[in-house]
Amino acid sequence: MNKTVILSIALTSVLGVSACSDQGKPGEKAAAAQGPVSAIHGSMKPAAAVTRWYSKAQVERGNELFQQNCAQCHKPDASGDPNWKQVNAEGKLPPPPLNGTGHAWHHPMPLLQQVVRRGGIPMGGSMPPFADKLNAEQINDILAWVQSHWPDAIYAKWAQMTAQAARKKG
Ligand code: HEC
Repeated sequence: MNKTVILSIALTSVLGVSACSDQGKPGEKAAAAQGPVSAIHGSMKPAAAVTRWYSKAQVERGNELFQQNCAQCHKPDASGDPNWKQVNAEGKLPPPPLNGTGHAWHHPMPLLQQVVRRGGIPMGGSMPPFADKLNAEQINDILAWVQSHWPDAIYAKWAQMTAQAARKKG
């Protein structure tokens, strides 16, 4: 691909975004241009170095445990219920996504562990507690698998928040 082609794709993407309010389906052009453009950016940009706390083995163990204990509510891919923000007929919130698109990443590690141990019932929710079923290591393995779905940008924010929470505790 020569430079002219790259430039015209980049321009199409910019123009596509600015024009989407007054013609066609919003973002259609931009989306069409996005593939090649992001591929080009991807090959030029060095990958952001975000070091995760967990190992591959933990993610693999966590996957199995998640499928056994959590998937029936949070979905096998952790995408949760699409209506997770709206209370249902019983006045309860449906299982939220844990894959980085929901709220879970706003919670520092100790709080995530606590949610799984205690569940949501003490707080008026409906998630069952797992303290009697899963030990601390198993809960961490599950959280490792959950976090393996989070994009680097989300994970980095979460890691920063978890570090801040740990400092505050002293
Ligand atoms: C019976 C359904 C059910 C099961 C099983 C279940 N959850 Fe949940 N989970 C929920 C619901 C519903 C909520 C929302 C809070 C509430 O109502 O308790 C929730 C909330 C959460 C949250 C907080 C997310 C946020 O955005 O704040 C986390 C983390 C979580 N679940 C992890 C897990 C893990 C890990 C497992 C398996 C060990 C699991 N859940 C099993 C239903 C379930």
